[in-house]
Amino acid sequence: MTALFQPLKLKDITLRNRIAVPPMCQYMATDGVVNDWHCVHYPAIARGGAGLVIVEATAVSPEGRITPACTGLWNDAQAAAMAPIAASIKAAGAVPGIQIGHAGRKASANRPWEGDNHIADGDPRGWQTISPSATAFGAHLPKVPKAMTLEDITRVREDFVAAARRAHEAGFEWLELHFAHGYLGQSFFSVHANQRADTYGGSFENRSRFLRETVQAVRKVWPENLPLTARFGVIEYDGRDEETLAEAIELTRRFKAEGLDLLNVSMGFSTLTANIPWAPALLAPVAERVRRETGLPVASAWGFDHPATADACVRDGQLDLVMIGRAHLANPHWPMQAARALGVERPTWVLPAPYAHWLERYAGS
Ligand SMILES: Cc1cc2nc3c(=O)[nH]c(=O)nc-3n(C[C@H](O)[C@H](O)[C@H](O)COP(=O)(O)O)c2cc1C
Repeated sequence: MTALFQPLKLKDITLRNRIAVPPMCQYMATDGVVNDWHCVHYPAIARGGAGLVIVEATAVSPEGRITPACTGLWNDAQAAAMAPIAASIKAAGAVPGIQIGHAGRKASANRPWEGDNHIADGDPRGWQTISPSATAFGAHLPKVPKAMTLEDITRVREDFVAAARRAHEAGFEWLELHFAHGYLGQSFFSVHANQRADTYGGSFENRSRFLRETVQAVRKVWPENLPLTARFGVIEYDGRDEETLAEAIELTRRFKAEGLDLLNVSMGFSTLTANIPWAPALLAPVAERVRRETGLPVASAWGFDHPATADACVRDGQLDLVMIGRAHLANPHWPMQAARALGVERPTWVLPAPYAHWLERYAGS
């Protein structure tokens, strides 16, 4: 048996294999509410055989959306519309997960295929962004955010808590807090985005406070028997990587102590000065280090879509779970194809029983 097709048990949840579909924004919602597109997209991917399907970055508050077309969980109508998505992922044999987040200073943008840039000032579709400090990301995202007050910080943390509660009510069994990619959580941690002089800025202790408090607060409402995870940018590729990584590992230990069950290791994307050495599976050694030094299970994405690479990363103890993103958009049956490529004896077993049975029964006919 390949390592990639071994089940993974975390708390009371068992994934049928080590393949996960990472969150991928669809930018197709209206007022944060999912629609027919999401009802097609998510189950279509789930029926391809992945163990876990994580629904896209879903905003905890209206100003936390990346674009006006992002999904949200700041009201009950959004949660009600989300419930059939969770149910359909589950019916297809995958565990339904969801990523909740706040886009911070990268919010209020146009959809990627409509410019990917900040919505122009004065355009009624846009809104005032917020961030730890009034520092813009720059380039295509030039809007200067409002520096969050302590009341803003408390409110957003409570928004995470309320969204987590709604995610559970909607039927999700795996929660991922979005602390990566230059959005709000990452911005608190990042020296590029956080210039605060109060208890939320400066030292490691202070820059990590919002993230720790959010994990702590969400853990209280997210059921103990279900995995609570976070996606966190542990490296920026900005020339101070050892320092960032050492801090990120220490923070991950704290997360673990607060009850986090797995870290989805990613990049920071907090600065335009980054020089990312793009290569297949570039985060594998980084994730392995986080796993080794914290003892926390890890997942990672970015270029793991060669089946032999994905399998080796699990077998060699670099990853517990492999995130396969764009390859799933191109081919929802990536897991089935990977099983064949890896010589799995009965590759059809990754599929739901009604498919597997007939494909096996008539194999060769
Ligand atoms: C269309 C698209 C939307 C994405 N949206 C999100 C998102 O909502 N949250 C997130 O953390 N990452 C997001 N990402 C990043 C993916 O989760 C993943 O890390 C990335 O695609 C790299 O993995 P891959 O090489 O397997 O595609 C997105 C990527 C794509 C292609």
